[in-house]
Amino acid sequence: MPGSDLPLRNREDLRLFSYEDWRAGAGQNVSAMIASLLCLIEQDIPRVTKDVWLSFVYDLATDLPERRPRFDLMIRLAGDEDIERIAAGTERDQPIVRSCLRFWREFGFRSLYLGFVGNGPEPSIFQYVMDERDNHRYEAMLYGRMYRSQSPETAQVENLYTFRHKRCRNLALEFELQLFRLLKGSGIKQVRTHIAVRNRAALLWATTVGFRPEQWITMVSIDLPLLREQRKQFAFSPLREHEHAVYPLALFRL
Ligand SMILES: CC(C)(COP(=O)(O)OP(=O)(O)OC[C@H]1O[C@@H](n2cnc3c(N)ncnc32)[C@H](O)[C@@H]1OP(=O)(O)O)[C@@H](O)C(=O)NCCC(=O)NCCS
Repeated sequence: MPGSDLPLRNREDLRLFSYEDWRAGAGQNVSAMIASLLCLIEQDIPRVTKDVWLSFVYDLATDLPERRPRFDLMIRLAGDEDIERIAAGTERDQPIVRSCLRFWREFGFRSLYLGFVGNGPEPSIFQYVMDERDNHRYEAMLYGRMYRSQSPETAQVENLYTFRHKRCRNLALEFELQLFRLLKGSGIKQVRTHIAVRNRAALLWATTVGFRPEQWITMVSIDLPLLREQRKQFAFSPLREHEHAVYPLALFRL
């Protein structure tokens, strides 16, 4: 089962988990109820898969760290031409690039920030910012229930992608801090992001940036004909202090 290397949660967490989930309205339909219950079972269950993310928070009210820039990095919003360029590029079949194209073409997100190094026409990195204006878009998304509604002071950043030739040079770190400055200037006070627990590079990137891990998100998928087409069900549980200690797995510098 994906995520089965996670530490077992204690009983208290499990009770809170289902109760909060219920209170949040996940129990409103039968498949959500079943999914919430299945989240509580740690063993493998036939036809049930669970995927786990960590939700991270960055508080923009604090001072952003000053770093000496390594890159001559320019950030701007994408337009249709940029999307066509990315869609024609050699990395178009990478999962995050495909997801980026779907966010634009299918769901209508438009706050895609591109980072350019030097004066080149090709972006070296990108990421979406989802803000209050995007709240209505989650409804159409298979994974939409994963996101909370944004307020005028909060944003979610998703689909971070550094093109391969630019990786492991601190570009994503520099890009994020520059993006945070833009967001802070436009009144955003808190930023969230979700990272799959299997994505070691991204988990390390998030902790290097200074994101604080806050919450587990478990997605339950049930492979039965009647439930297959349903939107994914999610359960949320807080990351407890003691889990910071039991979940370093060499991932967190906490
Ligand atoms: C995750 C990703 C965006 C990182 O981009 P990057 O520009 O290479 O990241 P940076 O060089 O800025 O890394 C910052 C820190 O993250 C960590 N990190 C990044 N990539 C890493 C890797 N492959 N292995 C280990 N640590 C890594 C390091 O701690 C690094 O700091 P350090 O070099 O000072 O130790 C990039 O690997 C990528 O695009 N991956 C595919 C798409 C993806 O998974 N996106 C995340 C979706 S949530």
